[in-house]
Amino acid sequence: MNFQKICVLGLGYIGLPTASTFATNGLRVIGVDVNPRVVNTLKNGQIHIHEPGLRTLVEAAVKSGKLTVSPTPEQADAFLIAVPTPFLENQDEEYEGRKYKLADMRAVISAAEAIVPCLRKGNLVVLESTSPPRTTLDLVAPILERSGLRAGSDFFLCYSPERVLPGQIMRELIENARVIGGVTPESAKAGRDLYAVFVKGEIIETDATTAEMVKLMENTTRDVNIAIANEFSRLAEKFGVDVWEAISLANRHPRINILSPGPGVGGHCISVDPWFFVEAAPELTPLIYNARRVNDEQPHFVVQKVKQAVGDLSGKRIAALGLAYKPDVDDLRESPATEVVHILQNEGAQVKVWEPFKPNAVMEGIDMAQSLDAALLEADLLILLVKHTEFINFDPKAIAAKTTARLVVDCVNGWDAGSWSKSGFQVFRLGANKLP
Ligand SMILES: NC(=O)c1ccc[n+]([C@@H]2O[C@H](COP(=O)([O-])OP(=O)(O)OC[C@H]3O[C@@H](n4cnc5c(N)ncnc54)[C@H](O)[C@@H]3O)[C@@H](O)[C@H]2O)c1
Repeated sequence: MNFQKICVLGLGYIGLPTASTFATNGLRVIGVDVNPRVVNTLKNGQIHIHEPGLRTLVEAAVKSGKLTVSPTPEQADAFLIAVPTPFLENQDEEYEGRKYKLADMRAVISAAEAIVPCLRKGNLVVLESTSPPRTTLDLVAPILERSGLRAGSDFFLCYSPERVLPGQIMRELIENARVIGGVTPESAKAGRDLYAVFVKGEIIETDATTAEMVKLMENTTRDVNIAIANEFSRLAEKFGVDVWEAISLANRHPRINILSPGPGVGGHCISVDPWFFVEAAPELTPLIYNARRVNDEQPHFVVQKVKQAVGDLSGKRIAALGLAYKPDVDDLRESPATEVVHILQNEGAQVKVWEPFKPNAVMEGIDMAQSLDAALLEADLLILLVKHTEFINFDPKAIAAKTTARLVVDCVNGWDAGSWSKSGFQVFRLGANKLP
């Protein structure tokens, strides 16, 4: 199939790089977003998200006249949906005492509805948003069929998961293998023809529900694997073992690869997507459910660790290092570090946070320091929450000169306990001290 013009609905971390890449590869692209701020920013030649290499690409796409932005879609050969799919806040359901979260599919529904008046025979529609199993067949197809056309026979319909790593999106979009699930084999073939415009990685055709499961299985596997590492950290403390040493020894086994424990799991993918399985089949997902719970409880375990170091938290001054959901990124969404800070504060501690990747972030109820020194100055304890490269390169002697604190809680195995001890700190490491 030959594509001349496409509409990309949703111009965020996924949609904007995708739209721009199609445009710089010669397609006429209408980028659609319901947020007027996004549309205006792009129309003014600016971009609203931070991703290395994206600005240059968007500039090239706009300059060539191939990428234009609009609040509404128009007739095209293909439509891509890359809108958010978070979970609904405070609307949990319950199955046999297990409370689980529900996917918020409102953006996917409204994007599909917006396509209906533009849809013509022979068009292709691709859902890229991470979605619960059977969304393409049971939610998106019936909406699009309000056009009077039938999915699979009058128009092609696919699900294609996005698996790019923030920070590497521009490269991975092109080089990663891409799974394309069609509601019919002909739909998958049409999807292949579209992505072959720029994808250099392998393109694999399958059915739509398999493609939806692939994405959820990837993120759920990571969540469950991190949960077992977190549970090992608790067991190691109970038995007086250093979990980091134990993991590195276990990983010498050729078929074992245990991940690292930490203060929890965050971000908008791994801590969200497993819920889509639980919602779709709560009776079949006790393991996935419990892994989510273990990871969500880990910030409380970390706070117990702080209490072990400093005793009663009331009035204690704590310098928290890092707030991002993972090392060396500026993304604070669903961050477990934020949860740790809130719990410490609820127990009476005064916490100052230093996040070098977003020093000016405004976070409700969180005291962001304007510099590392301001966070450290009058602290009783330092807590390392994120393994930013900048933090793990700290010289403990230099830090000792900047702070009154002599207690350190390291939640990510970022610091060498020996050299911090030599510099006058008493070091407590997650998964490495015996609980009293
Ligand atoms: N960001 C990632 O690293 C990543 C990786 C893999 C998968 N995903 C998935 O991709 C999807 C998009 O994620 P994102 O990070 O790009 O989201 P985002 O929040 O960065 O951007 C989504 C954009 O869609 C717009 N939007 C909302 N409803 C719309 C509608 N009805 N029509 C048009 N635009 C609409 C929003 O205004 C926003 O600008 C999600 O399902 C996410 O889970 C994201």
